[in-house]
Amino acid sequence: MDIYEKLKALRELGLAKIKETTDEKTLNQVRVELIGKKSELIGMLHSLGDLAPEERKEVGQKVNEIRDLFLELLAKTQKEMAERILQAKIESERIDVTLPGKHHQVGASHPISVILEDLENLFTNMGYHVVQGPEVETDHYVFEMMNLPKDHPARDMQETFYINSERLLRSQTSGDQARVLEKWDFSKGPLKMVGPGKVYRRDDDDATHSHQFMQMEGLVVDKNISMADLKGTLELIAKHEFGADRETRLRPSYFPFTEPSVEMDVSCFNCDGKGCSICKQTGWIEVLGAGMVHPNVLENAGVDSSIYSGFAFGVGLDRFAILKYGVDDIRDFYTNDVRFLKQFRKEEQ
Ligand code: PHE
Repeated sequence: MDIYEKLKALRELGLAKIKETTDEKTLNQVRVELIGKKSELIGMLHSLGDLAPEERKEVGQKVNEIRDLFLELLAKTQKEMAERILQAKIESERIDVTLPGKHHQVGASHPISVILEDLENLFTNMGYHVVQGPEVETDHYVFEMMNLPKDHPARDMQETFYINSERLLRSQTSGDQARVLEKWDFSKGPLKMVGPGKVYRRDDDDATHSHQFMQMEGLVVDKNISMADLKGTLELIAKHEFGADRETRLRPSYFPFTEPSVEMDVSCFNCDGKGCSICKQTGWIEVLGAGMVHPNVLENAGVDSSIYSGFAFGVGLDRFAILKYGVDDIRDFYTNDVRFLKQFRKEEQ
């Protein structure tokens, strides 16, 4: 084979080898094999002296040409390989930002808390204090101070859980009235307070009764507090909670700690007063009990009933929530099924 054919064969073989390589390690081996010091091609440069002078130049040039070609192709191949590797890495490490994220369960405010906070805001904005009495209360505050001496027949109005003859689970928040009244310093201004909290009664649980529920007591005492103040305040609660277009009415009632006593009804929001199953065909729904503070309650707490007068009200928050949200079973408020509670989530949080 003449030297030019040999060079041609080396060139073809070299190009084919470079083309075949797929990884960097082999590429380096091919580089050494093709243009390393001991390669056949470079070896030819060393034996140029054996050639005729006119051939030397031409063969030398050809060898350099082929070496440059190899170098160029090796560099190109290496670059392509590096790019391929980088591309594969990018591909394998890609993050799909459109995939749905991990879903965390987000809680919702309890419907009774929503109503409670709302009412607390309403009253604190009018300068009322928020007080909280103990759930484990005494007969003294819940009954005796509230004009219900021992053996008073009206004690039967509330089936009470007694712990012993003096200690009980409060059956109403009205004891908060007595606690605040006996401490109030009227020289500092009128007494205006709301007292929300849990109460307990010996009721059998069913759709409309629970042995535990939430009340909010209200009490205002000052000079010259009249029934008109009570009526205005109750109307405000009704319209705030059930809508500005609700009608209200006060019915005479009886509570030992108020005289006169009333119950407030709002016009049925389901039938607008026409009569339906929710309002038992009466057009009205009872929402709370209230009245003018009985002079005995003031006197028991050391407040002069010839100078001071006041009004009080007691709101059943469960009842408000049932009416407002159309809940048909009071037990739903206490079993804490998240599927029930989720419905009261205000917005996606
Ligand atoms: N404590 C009464 C009840 O539980 C409600 C009430 C409070 C009535 C204050 C009048 C004044 O039924």
